[in-house]
Amino acid sequence: MLISACIILLLGLAIAQDTSLLTVKSSFDDANIPETIHLIFDPRILLDVTFFEPSGESITLHADNDSPSATAGPPSFGVVENIGRPGPFVIAAIDPDVPTPQNPTVSQVRHFLGGNFVFANTTASKHGGRLVNTTPAVTEFQQPRPRAGSDPHRYIFLLFEQSKNFNDQTWITPTTPVTFFNLSTFAAAVGLGQPIGGTFMFVGPDPTTKAQS
Ligand SMILES: *[C@@H]1O[C@H](CO)[C@@H](O)[C@H](O)[C@H]1NC(C)=O
Ligand SMILES: *[C@@H]1O[C@H](CO)[C@@H](O)[C@H](O)[C@H]1NC(C)=O
Repeated sequence: MLISACIILLLGLAIAQDTSLLTVKSSFDDANIPETIHLIFDPRILLDVTFFEPSGESITLHADNDSPSATAGPPSFGVVENIGRPGPFVIAAIDPDVPTPQNPTVSQVRHFLGGNFVFANTTASKHGGRLVNTTPAVTEFQQPRPRAGSDPHRYIFLLFEQSKNFNDQTWITPTTPVTFFNLSTFAAAVGLGQPIGGTFMFVGPDPTTKAQS
């Protein structure tokens, strides 16, 4: 009786989680993100990226075409349900569409790269919750600013399990130019493997207007 109740509960959780992860995965596929950035995107965890508007309103990204009206950031990060991974995690944010999606000659541009993300508290580590980085980011968050006339850019946030040598890596430092970044090369070089979660947004040249596609 107890066992079957547990199995039903687990099935219910698995279905709820899978449906959301599948939606995220298909949104990434629809936006051609895995091909563009040469990474396999098979998410196991829902990454929560939340922007706070000057009004105090907060907007959480949903891996679709919704764009927050204010993207100054920095955003806060979290995971929706934990999967028994305590961290630490690495979070990267990139724009592969610079200066334009049609001719991305200086891409990728790195908008964020930070490690040592851990759960804000032990309740969060069991049920999901806010992630905080315990060290300064390698690249602090840079606001999306596509140039006038460009189509909206994809701003992609990815969560990785932190590798042992992430903190010793010297490939990217706070003084490394943010242009001509290659996340798949970097991830391979520092042993991050493939991302375990992610989300993205489209942002057009005027961040106060909704992106047109
Ligand atoms: C700990 O995390 C949980 C889950 O996110 C949250 O509801 C709670 O407010 C947090 N507690 C503290 C003290 O931050
Ligand atoms: C990034 O590196 C991958 C190999 O990891 C390569 O296939 C790809 O062409 C590179 N992308 C850019 C924009 O240089």
